Amino acid sequence: MRTKILKLTNTKNPRSLNSKLKSSAKIIRSGGLVVFPTETVYGIGANGLDAKAVKKIFIAKGRPSDNPLIVHIADEKDLSLLVRSIPQKAKVLMKKFWPGPLTIILKKKSGVPSSVTAGLDSVAIRMPSNKIARSLIRLAKTPIAAPSANLSGRPSPTSAEHVITDLAGRVDMIIDGGQTKIGLESTVIDLTTKVPTILRPGKITLAQIKKVIGSVKLHKHKQNSKISKARSPGMKYRHYAPNAKLFVIKGNKNKVRNEIIKLVKQFKKQKSRVGIISFNYSNYRADLVKFFGKNYLLAAKSLYSTLRDFDKKKIDIILCESIPKKDFGLAIMDRLERAAGKNVIEII
Ligand code: TXA
Ligand code: MG
Repeated sequence: MRTKILKLTNTKNPRSLNSKLKSSAKIIRSGGLVVFPTETVYGIGANGLDAKAVKKIFIAKGRPSDNPLIVHIADEKDLSLLVRSIPQKAKVLMKKFWPGPLTIILKKKSGVPSSVTAGLDSVAIRMPSNKIARSLIRLAKTPIAAPSANLSGRPSPTSAEHVITDLAGRVDMIIDGGQTKIGLESTVIDLTTKVPTILRPGKITLAQIKKVIGSVKLHKHKQNSKISKARSPGMKYRHYAPNAKLFVIKGNKNKVRNEIIKLVKQFKKQKSRVGIISFNYSNYRADLVKFFGKNYLLAAKSLYSTLRDFDKKKIDIILCESIPKKDFGLAIMDRLERAAGKNVIEII
């Protein structure tokens, strides 16, 4: 398949934006695949009400079919196509955080294809704030089902270049809207449970959500769990991972630093190329060091491109300092630990 690439840098004029997006909307309407930017990461989209189109997403990404998709809408009226009723807490969350990086899981309407929801009786819905995404959904006149636009298991794409690396030749169109603002996937909250449950932490934090709907809990996922109907099926797969082996080192800052210095020496002896992701100390000596300091917004925004960069530079081992799991730090650590799999070292 030949993939068209549409570069859209200036999104200020809505008329010209719409006219440039017409052909992409047509592809969606006729059952094709369009990659588009959102404020979190790029998504690979298809008509969310067309089961056949949705199946193409799973093939293009190599995604397991038991992993449900998020359906993206542009206006609240689109909700009536997807759900039977909107609980009060959902209304409050939508009012406060939409459009934006929050995905809400509600009981689905029967018209939502089971390929979208992987057979679950719930559907994940998000209204992105990115202008290109919203205009595309409006022009396509249908909700757009879209997972992150990476090959399954790879880090989510935060630039068109990442998408092209993973999906060129596998989709009809890639819309290049530059680097995404947030860089980590949306917060996912399940409102079908008695107590609302955060299934995936993100930019919108537990504390922010608690403030508007009261009690909310954080779901603890067991990685690589064999249970096929996990609560959020996607979370059981190894995720967000670079080719390099990533180690997260947790504990007292100073001890972590000493451990990293020790590990660099060890791995260098084995002729490995070593990279470091650091939040506390900038003066490590390794083949590649990415220092974020306390700028967690920047860390989130460039985390996935950093992981891809380390691969490009043929780094074999990535050693990463940990940060406190609170506020946005929770989401950053969630992705890092997921990328590390079992390689989380706790120094006591
Ligand atoms: O920021 C984002 O959310 C991006 C952009 C493109 O919107 N999308 C994204 O999609 O990250 P994806 O498919 O990579 O992640 C969706 C997550 C998966 O972990 C999936 O298992 C979960 O949401 N999910 C979707 N529908 C669900 C449902 N009905 N119940 C539980 N979890 C669900
Ligand atoms: Mg994904």
